[in-house]
Amino acid sequence: MKTTLSVIKADIGSLAGHHVVHPDTIAAANKVLAEAKRNNIISDYYITFVGDDLQLIMTHERGELDTKVHETAWNAFKEAAKVAKELGLYAAGQDLLSDSFSGNLRGMGPGIAEIEFEERPAEPVVIFMADKTEPGAYNLPLYKIFADPFNTAGLVIDPTMHEGYKFEVLDVREGESIILNTPEESYDLLALIGTPSRYIIRRVYRKADNLQASVVSVERLNLIAGKYVGKDDPVMIIRAQHGLPALGEILEAFTVPYLVPGWMRGSHYGPLMPVPQKDARATRFDGPPRLVGLGFNIKNRRLVGPTDLFDDPAFDEVRRTAQIITDYIRKHGPFMPHRLEPEEMEYTTLPLVIEKLRNRFKKETDMYKTKPSMYSHESSQE
Ligand code: 13P
Ligand code: 13P
Ligand code: MG
Ligand code: MG
Ligand code: MG
Repeated sequence: MKTTLSVIKADIGSLAGHHVVHPDTIAAANKVLAEAKRNNIISDYYITFVGDDLQLIMTHERGELDTKVHETAWNAFKEAAKVAKELGLYAAGQDLLSDSFSGNLRGMGPGIAEIEFEERPAEPVVIFMADKTEPGAYNLPLYKIFADPFNTAGLVIDPTMHEGYKFEVLDVREGESIILNTPEESYDLLALIGTPSRYIIRRVYRKADNLQASVVSVERLNLIAGKYVGKDDPVMIIRAQHGLPALGEILEAFTVPYLVPGWMRGSHYGPLMPVPQKDARATRFDGPPRLVGLGFNIKNRRLVGPTDLFDDPAFDEVRRTAQIITDYIRKHGPFMPHRLEPEEMEYTTLPLVIEKLRNRFKKETDMYKTKPSMYSHESSQE
C-alpha cells in the first residue's frame, strides 16, 4: 500500500501584523485534524507554523489531490480563520480566496505539496517551509541538491545517483511544463530556472528508476487572485538517503543566504535565512525571508519526529551573513534591485500610484522638440 505525504499551508491571520501564527488558531486546526485521524481520513499529522503561515503535515493512503484530505485541510483552515477573526488577528483568512470547497484545494489559495510513494524500509523526509517568498525560491537549492556535484557528493560517488535526476519545470505564465534531464541538459535547465518568477521546479525524479524525490507547492497567489494578496510562502518535500541525496547534502544547499523575492509587501529581494522553529517569526522589515526545515522518518504512515534541522550552530554563520546582506540591501530603500522589477510590481498596489500621476506626464516631443523615434522600440532596432 502506498503512502501519501501532504503538506498543505495557508495564512489564516496572524498576531501583530504578518508576524506569527497565534497558538489558539493552531489549536482550532488541531481539533479538525484529530477528528480526521479518528475517522481514518488521515493516518497521522503534525501541525506547525512558519511566520504567519499555518502548516498542516499529514500522512494518508488516499493519494494526491484527494477530496477528503483536502476538505479536511480546508475545514482546519476555516476553523482556524474563525478563531483568528474572533481574536481580531491581522488579515484573518488571508489565503482563503474562495468561499466554498469543491473537489480539491487547487486554485483556492492554500499552498499544496503532495507526494505518493512506496515506503522504503527507512523513509527519511525533509519538509521545508518558507515565509515571505515565492515558489521559485527553491529553484536554486533544488539545482544544487540534485544536479551540482560541488554540493552533493553522491552525484559523483553513489552509483544510483550517478545517472542524474529529472526536473519538471512549470512555466506559470503559459501554464505548461517541461521535463529536463541532468547532467546532460543542465545548461538548458539553468536557462529556464534562472528566471524563478516564471519557471518553477515542481518535481524531481531519480533518472535510474523514476523514483520521485521532491515536490514543491507552486501556487502563485497573485495569479489566482489577479492582484497582490500576500506572498505564496512555499513548502517543499525532499526524500533523503538510499540513492537520494543525504540529509547533509540537502541542508548544504542552504549555506548561502541567497536572494529571493518577497519580504516587505512581497515587493523586495532579501536573503533567505534558515532558522530554528523558535525564530520562525517575521520581524525586521517583515522578514528577512525565513526558512524552517523539519526532518521526519515515516513508518507505516506514522510521522516519526520531527527534528528541527536549522537549530544548529553550524548555520550561525549563514544567519550572520544574512544579517550583513540585510543591512546592505536595506540601504537601497525603495530602489531596485532591492525593490522588485516593474513586471512583478504590477501585482502590487504600485500601479494605483502611477495611475494617479498619469495626467501629469508631458510628451518629450512637445517639450524639447525631440523626434518620436528616440522613444520607439522599433526604430531603435533598425
Ligand atoms: P555514519 O557512519 O554516521 O552513518 O555516516 C554515513 C554517511 O554516509 C554520512 O554521509
Ligand atoms: P505574507 O504573505 O507572509 O502575509 O506577507 C505579506 C506582506 O505583505 C508582508 O509585508
Ligand atoms: Mg500574512
Ligand atoms: Mg506568510
Ligand atoms: Mg503569504
